[in-house]
Amino acid sequence: AAIKKYQFDVQVKKVSRLCHSKPIVTVNGGFPGPTIYVQEGDRLQINVTNHAQYNMSIHWHGLKQYRNGWADGPTYVTQCPIQTGSSYTYVFNVTGQRGTLWWHAHILWLRATVYGAIVIMPKQGTSFPFPQPYRETEILLGEWWNVDVETFVNKATRLGLPPNSSDAHTINGKPGPLFPCSEKHTFAMEVEQGKTYLLRIINAALNDELFFGIAGQNLIVVEVDAVYTKPFTTQAILIALGQTTNVLVKANQAPGRYFPVDNKTATAILQYRGVLNTILPSLPQLPNPNDTSFALSYNKKLRSLNTPNFPANVPLKVDRKLFYTIGFGKESCPSCINGTRFVASLNNISFEMPHVGLLQAHYFNLKGVFKTDFPDRPSTPFNYTGAPLTANLGTSTGTRLSKIAFNLTVELVLQDTNLLTVESHPFHLHGYNFFVVGTGIGNFDPAKDPAKYNLVDPVERNTVGVPTCGWTAIRFRADNPGVWFMHCHLEFHTGWGLKMAFVVEDGPGSDLSVLPPPKDLPPC
Ligand code: C2O
Repeated sequence: AAIKKYQFDVQVKKVSRLCHSKPIVTVNGGFPGPTIYVQEGDRLQINVTNHAQYNMSIHWHGLKQYRNGWADGPTYVTQCPIQTGSSYTYVFNVTGQRGTLWWHAHILWLRATVYGAIVIMPKQGTSFPFPQPYRETEILLGEWWNVDVETFVNKATRLGLPPNSSDAHTINGKPGPLFPCSEKHTFAMEVEQGKTYLLRIINAALNDELFFGIAGQNLIVVEVDAVYTKPFTTQAILIALGQTTNVLVKANQAPGRYFPVDNKTATAILQYRGVLNTILPSLPQLPNPNDTSFALSYNKKLRSLNTPNFPANVPLKVDRKLFYTIGFGKESCPSCINGTRFVASLNNISFEMPHVGLLQAHYFNLKGVFKTDFPDRPSTPFNYTGAPLTANLGTSTGTRLSKIAFNLTVELVLQDTNLLTVESHPFHLHGYNFFVVGTGIGNFDPAKDPAKYNLVDPVERNTVGVPTCGWTAIRFRADNPGVWFMHCHLEFHTGWGLKMAFVVEDGPGSDLSVLPPPKDLPPC
């Protein structure tokens, strides 16, 4: 095991895309930022120095941070922001995980430009459980706005406006040649005939679930969210916000140029070495954004590898059952254009961010920062996915957390509702991976649905899509003490309050409790 050090200078840089030029916040001037390469078992020390005008923090999305929430990063959850002109060193071990994860700013919408990949190689003496690829590359899917993102988000929040959608999707920061002024902003990957490549694909976009495919090429899915899967072949992958997917691609097509593409037509080029660019690139066929049957069959194929070396330790017995509804509502807002603004809620509670870190408040036992009365189920059950409900259910706002005793096994069913509008929601839990034991359309039926769970080889991940007008059931063992954020990774939903946090209590013995905070933890 080695200590790997990185220096992250958060700084403003002028960047142009789609014929527009604007200053953006970057890490070390890169868009996307630098990739972190590490080997399972290593210790990372990443010094983040903030030279930009925005206070910020960085989250290492999918890293478990065992007992060490201090390095997790979400602002006002595990730390106060790193102020302009200050530094903080994130120190953490990378244990028991290998594969592709990513990092991003974790305050408001700053992650629109502040993100990058994390590549964890298998530990010394081990290799991939699939044929060794010839080469590998990271593919970060993102979004680009011509306007300044922070400015419009602040304005939208103040006036209760719907979010602007982005002007383009990007692949490694580049929209590709189908957009104006973008010929030079095209990501190209060179391949050799007959060789196999590993693509580490990351959905770093803010608001859009994406598909990814390469014209004429099969993709073999081998890993998601840094957990190996049973390999399966597909023409397109579905990748929700915050998720990662590793695929193998064999360069076995007639030489030429091929486009990978997503559904707002960001394109990049797969170029066969030694072949002149005379053949017109072709676009792959991708499912429609609303193709739920593709999504259901794709998700059915996703299964844990579940071999003796990589077992799926699914909790079979559940100690604590949680059922959370996802809903939208409106609250009055005198400064807003229509006098109201959207709120989003879990069990009808819209989360309010505190002004000190929740983990500090927990560790130092500060009173009055949060309550631990988050309800395990909605107070009044209703027909969640029946006729559209327009009634405002009187959503309340609060900093309410759910307390979980150490090592309990937890089942959480996330139920989408037809309150005001329906949408799919990519839910991310910090500090843990979980098993996706079941999913379905309509209302979750506690009498019938659990009998259909996959408790043998369900996919294990850190972010899962809850289908439009449907539900998803996840299980995990609460063995990582601390305060862990859970939220929709769709950024404007998060902003509207679609988030909450778990307080997982310390275990017996000092080796099972939250570690002491580092000396340079940013003050509040
Ligand atoms: Cu990738 Cu709380 O975020």
